[in-house]
Amino acid sequence: MLYVGLMSGTSLDGIDAVLAEVSGKPPDVRAAVVHFLTVPYSSEQRARLRAMMEGAGAADLCRLNFDLGVWFAEATLRLLQEAGVEPRDIAAIGSHGQTVWHEPPGTRSGGTLQIGEAAVVAERVGRPVVSDFRARDVAAGGQGAPLVPLVDVWLFTHPTRRRAIQNIGGIANVTYLPAGEFAGSIVGFDTGPGIAVVDAVVELVTRGAQSFDRDGALGARGRVRDDVLQEFLADEYFSVTPPKSTGRERFGSAYARRLAERAGALGAGPEDCVATATALTARSIAKAYRDFLAPRGGPDECYVSGGGARNPTLVRMLQDALAPIPVRDLSALGVDPKAKEALAFAVHAHAHLHGIPGNAPEVTGAAGPRVLGKLTPA
Ligand SMILES: Nc1ncnc2c1ncn2[C@@H]1O[C@H](COP(=O)(O)OP(=O)(O)O)[C@@H](O)[C@H]1O
Ligand SMILES: [Mg+2]
Repeated sequence: MLYVGLMSGTSLDGIDAVLAEVSGKPPDVRAAVVHFLTVPYSSEQRARLRAMMEGAGAADLCRLNFDLGVWFAEATLRLLQEAGVEPRDIAAIGSHGQTVWHEPPGTRSGGTLQIGEAAVVAERVGRPVVSDFRARDVAAGGQGAPLVPLVDVWLFTHPTRRRAIQNIGGIANVTYLPAGEFAGSIVGFDTGPGIAVVDAVVELVTRGAQSFDRDGALGARGRVRDDVLQEFLADEYFSVTPPKSTGRERFGSAYARRLAERAGALGAGPEDCVATATALTARSIAKAYRDFLAPRGGPDECYVSGGGARNPTLVRMLQDALAPIPVRDLSALGVDPKAKEALAFAVHAHAHLHGIPGNAPEVTGAAGPRVLGKLTPA
């Protein structure tokens, strides 16, 4: 069956849309990317999304929810047109939406909100839409994140090799896959900052001229400030035992400003700030592997995906930090690393339609397995 997966992550770079063939039931779920595109946000669209996360009002939220639905529908129609596939040929669209607020259960009971009105997508594309995947897990006492680990188990478990499947979007998250037929409990969590802190530092030091470190060029020219790095690696998030998840609320632009200011005060130049932010992502991932994966055997190999995998400076730093564990691009496993997260939500739509639970309670902390998402009929 053909599905569409839609994703807009914390980086606010654009809408990722994937057309994928998904079939089977666990543990034999199969998924293959047929076509993929990213529709970048305009600076106006990005400013509206950002304003939302910084507490814009109800009227703005309402308007953006519907406008985003239109943008998701347009991305879907373009994807299908490029692929030469008619809407009627797809089973459903799995739409993650855009997280505007995410508050895992803690002192409060927790909440999460993804927008991009599914009714608008269903109306304009004419196919069923499964959306709002995180809410049910949070309602069951879970973190609502990450939701990709179970999909990773289905798609990437190897008979003899232990794998770390590492996505580096705005936030970075890992799934650890022990070798062989999957038994035992799944380990997956957000390791901490991904590329969003690097993006924000780049924006600060270039005074808005650049929104990300293209090809890792700035970071490659800078020198990592080890003193600042150690200070920021002491952040309590890194020592919290999983399950755990995080977001822009913690590792967002305020955090990036603190890092750039601290490094600047110690004499770091703009490129040193970018290099230090990049190293923080690499080193916090390596620390998470040492503290939480090594005691379970630890990975034989690591596969990276997400926009962070397109930053060669970050990938090189991660290779250094994880050596001798080889770090490879997820394309080595036949999946376009840019399409990975969107693909996971195409698989989640398939799971929903077949009544298959999509969360891993040991990962999210939910009271039990739950069928994720809400269905809006065609
Ligand atoms: N050519 C490139 N060089 C360096 N970084 C890149 C490149 N292309 C994309 N990126 C990075 O990838 C990020 C987007 O990654 P993505 O996986 O979409 O994150 P999210 O899921 O948070 O939206 C961009 O903000 C940018 O930092
Ligand atoms: Mg993105």
